[in-house]
Amino acid sequence: MLFVTFEGPEGAGKTTAIMGVFDALIDRGIPAIITREPGSGSFGKKVRELLLDSGEINPRSELFLFLADRANHVDTIVRPALAAGKVVLCDRYADSTVVYQGYARGMDIDNLRALNEMATGGLSPQLTFLLDLAPEIGLARLTKKDRIDSESLEFHQMVRNGFLAEAKLEPKRWKVLDSTLPAEEIVENILEELLLQKILNSK
Ligand code: TYD
Repeated sequence: MLFVTFEGPEGAGKTTAIMGVFDALIDRGIPAIITREPGSGSFGKKVRELLLDSGEINPRSELFLFLADRANHVDTIVRPALAAGKVVLCDRYADSTVVYQGYARGMDIDNLRALNEMATGGLSPQLTFLLDLAPEIGLARLTKKDRIDSESLEFHQMVRNGFLAEAKLEPKRWKVLDSTLPAEEIVENILEELLLQKILNSK
């Protein structure tokens, strides 16, 4: 049982990387699931729509919707999968709240950490991959922009810097990857890290 999260600014290619890692795990007979925040399960899908495609929301409502989604996601999807011995690959988690609502929106970071603790019941990932990318490149990769994608370049710069700052605070958990590398290389780097951490055995 291992909980791995993937974080990064918009357009960093998290989805492609996660799918590549998932296929490699399944190939090796390691049970795994892919999940994401916001938007997993039927409750999560509704919250995601409220968050990203329902017009303006004030920052506190936005925060509590992300937390509501997280609390439900952890209990109904993440913990049961871990208890069943699966590797959980999660696209965004509590760090996104610290970075987007804290570093970028300016809400108090210590409060956000405490709220995350409450929402997750204290469940933290063992490993977090940061797919780092300059926002100019990431935003240009998007074909469609939701409410948060449409924030200013400065906002997305604060997001990038926030992730890099968080990664520095906990270097054992965070692995920073250059998202301009080809997708296969990114997947290889992630698998190497999982090997190092003895999550994978060499084939
Ligand atoms: P994501 O699924 O990465 O978007 P997309 O499907 O467009 O790639 O994330 C949704 C958006 O929500 C993204 O802009 C980051 C933001 N977000 C927060 O602001 N706080 C959070 O706690 C989470 C989980 C996401």
